[in-house]
Amino acid sequence: MTRRPIRVLVTAGPTHEPIDAVRYLANRSSGRMGEAIADSALDSGMEATLLLGPIPREPGSRWRTSPRFESCEDLRRLLAAEWPRHDCLIMAAAVADFRPVSISPGKLRRREGLELALESTPDLLAEAAALRRPDQFIVGFALAPEAELAPSAREKLASKRLDAIVANPLETMDAPTIRGTLHLADGRTLTPPQGGRLPKADFARWLIETLRPLLEDRARG
Ligand code: CTP
Repeated sequence: MTRRPIRVLVTAGPTHEPIDAVRYLANRSSGRMGEAIADSALDSGMEATLLLGPIPREPGSRWRTSPRFESCEDLRRLLAAEWPRHDCLIMAAAVADFRPVSISPGKLRRREGLELALESTPDLLAEAAALRRPDQFIVGFALAPEAELAPSAREKLASKRLDAIVANPLETMDAPTIRGTLHLADGRTLTPPQGGRLPKADFARWLIETLRPLLEDRARG
């Protein structure tokens, strides 16, 4: 019997959280890590869907029609539609942690001054993990300062009920390289054999090949 390809859903890029009709809160994520992961998944014969945030460049030619999101709420809707038909979610998007409590319909006037009231955004990764079927696998990313990275990643792995989490230090954001470590729910911690800082494409290839046997096991049940 030929088995169907593994279906991977990858999120990438920042979210923009609207303040008024022309302004938003954002972060410096470039989307390159997630795009490299989706590329590697395709290269290795998997099916890949890339959910891409608002980045100021065209995605690679493979992704011209990939679904795009702006805000955390947009991404939440896309995940609700896409996650059920995939085997694995790799959540590389830098979802905003805070958003304005209300969005002003017009353009706020400078002379009136502004105090922004913010609220925490819903944790999309934890929501996806809560809806996961036993045959689905879920990988998060943890971005934290170097000194607290490993304990912070382990804490997120457990509290969000993930199968794995990529821990990467703050300098990864908007950089061409990554020094990432993969923490698995079974207690193992894996690093690429080359060690150190790697181009994101090299890290993505290693990540996909490392995950492959775990995804195949999970799919077999
Ligand atoms: N994430 C998410 N929804 C959010 C915030 C984060 O799904 N509202 C996801 C990110 O895509 C990432 C993981 O959660 O895969 C960890 O993100 P991170 O910013 O490191 O952690 P937080 O959960 O935001 O926790 P903290 O702000 O305490 O670091």
